[in-house]
Amino acid sequence: MEIVATAPGKLILFGEHAVVHGQPAIAVPFPALEARAVAGPNPEGPGLYIIAANLGRTLVVRAEPADDEPALCIAARLVLDDLGVPPPDLQILLSSTIPIAGGFGSGAAATTALLRALSVAVGQPLALEKLNAHVYEIEKLYHGTPSGIDNTVIVYGQPVYFVRGQPIETFAIGAPLHFVVADTGIQAPTHETVGDVRKLYHAEPERVGAIFARIGRIAEAARAAIEQGDVLTLGPLMQENHTLLRELTVSSTLLDNLAAAALGAGAWGAKLSGGGRGGNLITLVPPGATDDVIRALEAAGARRTFETTIA
Ligand code: PMV
Repeated sequence: MEIVATAPGKLILFGEHAVVHGQPAIAVPFPALEARAVAGPNPEGPGLYIIAANLGRTLVVRAEPADDEPALCIAARLVLDDLGVPPPDLQILLSSTIPIAGGFGSGAAATTALLRALSVAVGQPLALEKLNAHVYEIEKLYHGTPSGIDNTVIVYGQPVYFVRGQPIETFAIGAPLHFVVADTGIQAPTHETVGDVRKLYHAEPERVGAIFARIGRIAEAARAAIEQGDVLTLGPLMQENHTLLRELTVSSTLLDNLAAAALGAGAWGAKLSGGGRGGNLITLVPPGATDDVIRALEAAGARRTFETTIA
């Protein structure tokens, strides 16, 4: 029997980077991109094999830890140990349309899909809270000091207002929000940008601490505007958040150009989303301006664009 499990990508609407330092942030699932795990009998015979299609690798999950194990094997064993079962004879084909290091939560989504399929295959599907805790442990291997926002929004699959270490909060969407998302196609490892922001904070605690606090207030104001369906307030909040991210050194010339191009084509707001320096940019677009914004983003160097409506 085949078991299919999926997990969506994610977009951070407000608050990335500051969220690592205790400020609130807002994120939504991005189902246009997804990771998928298909579990079935292992044609190779006994043992648990993960075919990591995007990496072009076959990984074997052993009962005992080994040096330099890929994070996906560590993730699988974490769950098996927790459930008290040995590695089953199973093949899990893991694939993903989410670009790696693109700010869309590729690592968290791949781990989530894998652990969902594995736990169902051994007859003990994980509750969301438990799954989230496991995926967070693996996020630490990828990112060092993740806030936990990626795994939370991806595991729960709903909009989240996230504060590090606090229980998950979701919220209502007062009016549909239509976004055009531009993928720069540039990989930017989150652990590097997060590390650079931390260094900046240590070098200039007052100035950078004030930027974090201001970003936190923007996230709070954005939540209220989203709940009230006050879309016109959101554009300027995105602008300000993007400017503050630039001050944290995580924007780039391309991201700034894309933001300017989208605004020039009628977007209400534009900001980088996720770790920055590459990755993706989100633009909030009024009805009727979508085609113009897409054309402008592509002319300004976007590798590809997506549309998504949050309702
Ligand atoms: O890994 P990304 O690009 O999706 O970014 C995650 C968001 C950060 O705030 C930059 C890091 C974190 O752990 O919250």
